[in-house]
Amino acid sequence: MPPKSHISVDIAVRGATVISMIRTLEWTGEGVVRFLDQTRLPEEEVYVECRDAAAVAEAIRRMQVRGAPAIGIAGAMGLALGARQSRADAFEPFYAELCRVAGELAATRPTAVNLPWALERMKRVALKHRDLPVRAIKARLEQEAKDLWAQDLEVNRAIGRHGEPLLPPGARVLTHCNAGALATAGYGTALGVVRAAHTAGKGIAVLAGETRPFLQGARLTAWELHREGIPVTLITDGMPAALMARGQVDLVLVGADRIARNGDVANKIGTYGLALACRAHGLPFYVAAPLSTLDPTLQSGAAIPIEERSPEEVTTLAGRRIAPAGVPALHQAFDVTPAALVTAIITERGVARPPYAESLAALLGGGRER
Ligand code: MRU
Repeated sequence: MPPKSHISVDIAVRGATVISMIRTLEWTGEGVVRFLDQTRLPEEEVYVECRDAAAVAEAIRRMQVRGAPAIGIAGAMGLALGARQSRADAFEPFYAELCRVAGELAATRPTAVNLPWALERMKRVALKHRDLPVRAIKARLEQEAKDLWAQDLEVNRAIGRHGEPLLPPGARVLTHCNAGALATAGYGTALGVVRAAHTAGKGIAVLAGETRPFLQGARLTAWELHREGIPVTLITDGMPAALMARGQVDLVLVGADRIARNGDVANKIGTYGLALACRAHGLPFYVAAPLSTLDPTLQSGAAIPIEERSPEEVTTLAGRRIAPAGVPALHQAFDVTPAALVTAIITERGVARPPYAESLAALLGGGRER
């Protein structure tokens, strides 16, 4: 197993289990937020430090920090930094500034609902404490961002516990993009389920799709599983259907960026094709996501905004042009998988099965604030 490095930390979860965790993002105190720079992995393990909200917005836009839950937490930390910068000493101008900064952070990446979800939660904290001096509200916002980080870690562990029984011993699990520790505060959603099954000694093997053009599978999923000794084999994006036809895949397990009320799932481009291939080969297609990825305001996936990124990310590879000059490229970063193709959605409160309008509503309605 590759050696541990400074990018790991041992964390006690609820004072019990100690897990060695990748430090994807953290509030380091004195107004510095740092992200493990995911544009530089796996060659370099370096952090990018942000001291203001604009720097956090830029890091999200450039995908130095990425993955739905991680950009939600990053946004909250960015907003706490923005609050620190404010010179307003009365609530009204302070809150107006907070809303403006939240709007700028929310505009960085449109598909993952975790980002606006986290920002709204931060705004609610400010409103709730409006009678306190502004400096006390700033401290509450900082605490809320840290709480979001800690909560995400617990949520991922719970997703792992609920999802683990769905993975049969020896399962060959195909995943796409990166829904792991690097996409969250730690542990991961889809890869959290894999981690739980691996820890349970089930002998799980992962097939990681490379995920063009940002290569989250090749650069990130392969990196984080390999360093933990979880068996992982990299495959090209064109291989899954052929592997399924040869009986070399047992199930597909992916994360999500936004799930509509009816269970339609937005995730990294290519996910829809995987779900179709699963249906054709009679394989389960599982989605693992926290309830903060659920958007109950949307009836169906048709209304989910799909991020379009620069065509240059498609026409170049590691800074080198790979397509003829003048040829246009399309770069839709996400797709929507219809609920009818989703076998189950694994959340921190349990596993939702069709019909999702009912099962997701029941999970959402059950208990604490998301
Ligand atoms: O563009 P990215 O890398 O932010 O896309 C990430 C994904 O599509 C993940 O599958 C999703 O955010 C779930 S992460 C737990």
